Amino acid sequence: MKKTLFFTGLLLLLFASLSLALTGVKKRRPLPYEYGRVELNNFSEKAGQIPVVFDHWLHRAKFTCRLCHVDIGFAMKAGTTGIKAADNMQGYYCGSCHNDKTAFAACTTTIPRQNSSKCSRCHSLGRTAVKQYDFRTFTQDFPKGRFGNGIDWEQAEATGKIAPIDFLAGVSIQRDALVVQKDFDLIAKVKGMPEIIFSHKKHTVWNGCELCHPEIFLGVKKGATQYSMTEIYDGKYCGVCHSTVAFPLLDCQRCHTKQVQ
Ligand code: HEC
Ligand code: HEC
Ligand code: HEC
Ligand code: HEC
Ligand code: HEC
Ligand code: HEC
Repeated sequence: MKKTLFFTGLLLLLFASLSLALTGVKKRRPLPYEYGRVELNNFSEKAGQIPVVFDHWLHRAKFTCRLCHVDIGFAMKAGTTGIKAADNMQGYYCGSCHNDKTAFAACTTTIPRQNSSKCSRCHSLGRTAVKQYDFRTFTQDFPKGRFGNGIDWEQAEATGKIAPIDFLAGVSIQRDALVVQKDFDLIAKVKGMPEIIFSHKKHTVWNGCELCHPEIFLGVKKGATQYSMTEIYDGKYCGVCHSTVAFPLLDCQRCHTKQVQ
């Protein structure tokens, strides 16, 4: 009895300190439409352009993570790809789609007027009025989630509300169908902390295999990599995606699902 109480106390303490680490250190929690937003300004302002705003909520509803982060090659850390106007114009990065065929065209060398509507759909920091997609209208009948975008993306995909494209002609290579790996449990190292059910099947829909293996998880053997909640909060392992784009770490129960016995 005393022992159980002690563990419960320890657990509560952990919960409190971890939650504080989450809410205390970080800046204000992003609003649903801001979650997964990336601002790009490696070159824009220096060239007299307004910085670029990229929204995951719109793009992830249309395309898989794998398509952009493996086939097209965007980095998994904001600002590190180093996208240039010239890359886009030659059909790389944003220009893989924003080429006037798959989507409206990206950069040109001749700057029309700085606030030309052609440019300002992307070069839009601080000017939301120039966007044509409205978050609320676009997502109004999506299944709701508690955190992040306020959307249950897993359900949105499973129920066919969205069907993210995983292949882009001229960019992707035709691949054999993936052999999907078994789902498994991860056992948290603290007694009383609910176990985690990790679904390979559900993750593969979005991420293929290559987005996780071998860069984020070596994946040779379950249990070979030791990861702790602290490392996850630091943006490693599960935290690579579950702090910025997939549902955030605040949603403890979505990972720690298995009941404690
Ligand atoms: C249309 C392309 C596209 C799709 C689809 C896409 N991303 Fe991204 N993602 C990007 C770009 C562009 C960046 C910014 C890269 C940069 O700044 O160098 C980015 C950045 C990220 C980052 C880093 C964010 C940060 O704040 O540091 C993560 C994590 C990420 N994406 C995960 C995902 C996940 C998970 C999915 C699927 C649910 C996904 N992305 C779908 C294009 C995409
Ligand atoms: C589909 C989105 C998109 C559109 C539309 C777009 N751009 Fe860009 N542009 C980018 C991205 C992404 C960057 C890199 C942002 C950064 O890191 O500063 C960029 C960078 C630039 C730069 C910085 C210099 C350089 O060498 O990279 C210039 C200049 C530029 N764009 C001009 C334009 C002009 C002019 C238009 C309108 C005709 C335009 N862009 C439309 C996405 C876009
Ligand atoms: C895999 C394809 C793909 C890639 C890569 C991609 N986009 Fe898009 N993007 C789209 C599609 C499709 C749309 C919807 C276009 C439409 O309906 O007119 C879109 C829409 C947008 C919008 C529209 C916002 C609005 O409401 O008007 C912006 C801004 C945008 N993309 C920025 C970017 C930037 C910046 C990059 C690169 C960092 C990028 N996209 C990379 C496919 C892509
Ligand atoms: C979201 C990330 C993610 C994706 C996507 C993913 N895996 Fe894994 N995989 C893991 C994790 C986590 C482990 C546990 C091992 C570890 O911690 O390194 C693992 C373990 C494995 C193992 C070892 C299994 C065992 O029982 O020891 C294999 C084999 C594997 N993955 C193959 C694949 C294949 C094939 C795909 C695509 C169909 C895939 N994975 C997609 C995260 C992922
Ligand atoms: C490469 C990016 C990535 C990594 C790494 C990753 N996930 Fe996910 N995960 C996703 C995406 C995308 C979804 C879809 C839901 C969303 O975006 O909110 C998802 C969904 C889930 C779900 C909900 C599935 C369901 O049953 O409804 C759980 C639980 C989950 N992840 C746990 C984990 C755990 C635990 C790890 C680490 C072992 C991990 N994820 C690593 C991207 C990732
Ligand atoms: C994206 C999935 C995910 C979310 C969300 C999540 N965790 Fe975890 N948690 C994990 C994984 C994976 C482990 C490590 C399990 C292992 O190594 O076998 C873990 C381990 C733990 C542990 C055990 C101690 C340690 O450091 O390993 C505690 C305590 C914990 N989490 C608390 C929390 C709390 C509190 C929240 C909510 C604020 C939370 N977790 C949200 C995936 C998650």
